[in-house]
Amino acid sequence: MGTFKPSFQLRFILLLIARVYLKGISRFHKKREEDLRKKNWSNQYENPQSAHQSAFLNLALPGQHPNPEVVVQEVHRKVYASLARRQMLQGTQKYQDSSCLIGNPIDDCWECDPNWPDNRQNLADCAIGFGQYALGGKGGEYDVVTDSSNDDAVNPRPGTLRYAVIQTEPLWIVFPGNMLIKLSQELIFNSCKTLNGSGANVHIVGGGCITLQFISNVIIHNVHIHHCYPSGDANVCSSPTHYGYRTKSDGF
Ligand SMILES: *[C@@H]1O[C@H](CO)[C@@H](O)[C@H](O)[C@H]1NC(C)=O
Ligand SMILES: *[C@@H]1O[C@H](CO)[C@@H](O)[C@H](O)[C@H]1NC(C)=O
Repeated sequence: MGTFKPSFQLRFILLLIARVYLKGISRFHKKREEDLRKKNWSNQYENPQSAHQSAFLNLALPGQHPNPEVVVQEVHRKVYASLARRQMLQGTQKYQDSSCLIGNPIDDCWECDPNWPDNRQNLADCAIGFGQYALGGKGGEYDVVTDSSNDDAVNPRPGTLRYAVIQTEPLWIVFPGNMLIKLSQELIFNSCKTLNGSGANVHIVGGGCITLQFISNVIIHNVHIHHCYPSGDANVCSSPTHYGYRTKSDGF
């Protein structure tokens, strides 16, 4: 690991994918439910043993994976395969010519596609681990965060990150350049959002940091989240039409 650029490690660590089930219906839900069914992990990993276990020990919460060890092993396998490929190619012409194959299985997955500039949202298919089926803002429009300031937690201005993440439709949210976003209150996401901080140095700091609750399908890629502190005792919006009173947040 000693030879890696720090940016690789940061990029890898800061990939955070969250997925929580939601019963609510949106107009995008039908197609997405179809996608989800196809990607449903219960179907992917179903085997007689786990079915047997869950019949006996029905302690699983909704959305809980029936066989978590399989997921962990798969993450190890993919990380190892990517690292091994990188080491094997190092020093060869193929490696020199390639901008992908950097040893991170997630970036290797989408960046090695020669058409990746046209297929950016394929990132959503490249995730590994427990969040691997999260769709993020796949299929949605691109949204550019142009305003890092003015973090009004109740009436966020268009162009701010807060304005983007509360929208009801899927959005693929990108940043035009380096950005330091100081939150006044926790940033409450709505479903089906991707934050892509690649290509820029994006930092999110401040009150409450990120809250994902009662929503699904969020991908946060290449964004630095740090120096979070408790916030709350304040009104915060969670959708374009709703804000509510929030008690103290833990600041994580
Ligand atoms: C996933 O599949 C299982 C078993 O086939 C089913 O019980 C569950 O409802 C499915 N979940 C989703 C989100 O489709
Ligand atoms: C992320 O954003 C950067 C900068 O805009 C862009 O170069 C890159 O292709 C994007 N990647 C994805 C997966 O959206």
